[in-house]
Amino acid sequence: MTSYRGDRGKGNRVADHGVLLQICCMDSQKSAPSRYSPVAMLLHWLIAIAVIANWRLAEGAEHASKAEAQQIMGTHMALGMTIFTLAVLRLAVRHIQKPPPLASHLKSWEVVLARITHALFYVLLFALPILGWVAMSSYGSPINMFGWFEWPALPVPQDKETAEAIFGVHHLLGVAMVLLMALHILAVLKHTLFDRDGNIFRMLPFGQPKA
Ligand code: HEM
Ligand code: HEM
Repeated sequence: MTSYRGDRGKGNRVADHGVLLQICCMDSQKSAPSRYSPVAMLLHWLIAIAVIANWRLAEGAEHASKAEAQQIMGTHMALGMTIFTLAVLRLAVRHIQKPPPLASHLKSWEVVLARITHALFYVLLFALPILGWVAMSSYGSPINMFGWFEWPALPVPQDKETAEAIFGVHHLLGVAMVLLMALHILAVLKHTLFDRDGNIFRMLPFGQPKA
């Protein structure tokens, strides 16, 4: 009785290799990540919550008494520099752990819009705190980090007018951040409610995103 093993000729072995190769590629396609890494997710949600909180703080200060506003803005500045630190970490992680490719079913305009939105987010996540830091430094003031330590002032010339002008730009960019956030959330809602493609699960450790 010939064994199954014994029946296989050279040609069959080549064919088997072909099948193996196919299975292997299917596997690697399957395992191509369709969601962000856990660390990337954690940083995304921490930054998202902190940015929304910081926007509400700055808005709240507008309607508060002078003493209250000063306290609220102190927290806004400290949280702003915390966001800056998280954004540096986020970019470092992004460099080490490449993000998953955007979902393959996206239309080309969605890909372009997603790329622009994500890139602008990173620009603003750096520009907002850096401008705030430079402006405070132009007042000659370090930033009190929740009473734990002082974020040092940069060695820039002290000039109140420059500081005010920089805060003017910071204000405009802050508004741009809020608009961008609205666009980003609308996109998530569209994908969740209309396209039903589970795109939100790309940024969550559960659920099933479409590849
Ligand atoms: C200010 C708040 C937020 C900021 C700054 C922000 C920023 C970002 C950035 C930069 C990316 C791209 C990640 C990368 O490629 O490195 C991203 C992806 C994503 N964000 Fe946000 N986000 C915010 C709020 C939100 C909220 C509130 C939601 C949910 C309602 C959300 C859901 C998502 C999802 C699902 C993705 C994955 C998109 C994809 O690759 O298909 N984000 N976000
Ligand atoms: C990513 C971090 C930050 C975000 C998202 C952010 C966001 C904002 C927003 C949305 C406003 C305008 C609020 C309004 O409509 O009235 C604002 C104003 C302001 N922010 Fe920030 N900010 C950040 C970091 C900082 C830092 C680090 C500082 C200072 C060190 C700072 C200081 C200020 C000041 C003084 C104002 C008032 C400016 C004005 O309205 O003339 N911010 N910020």
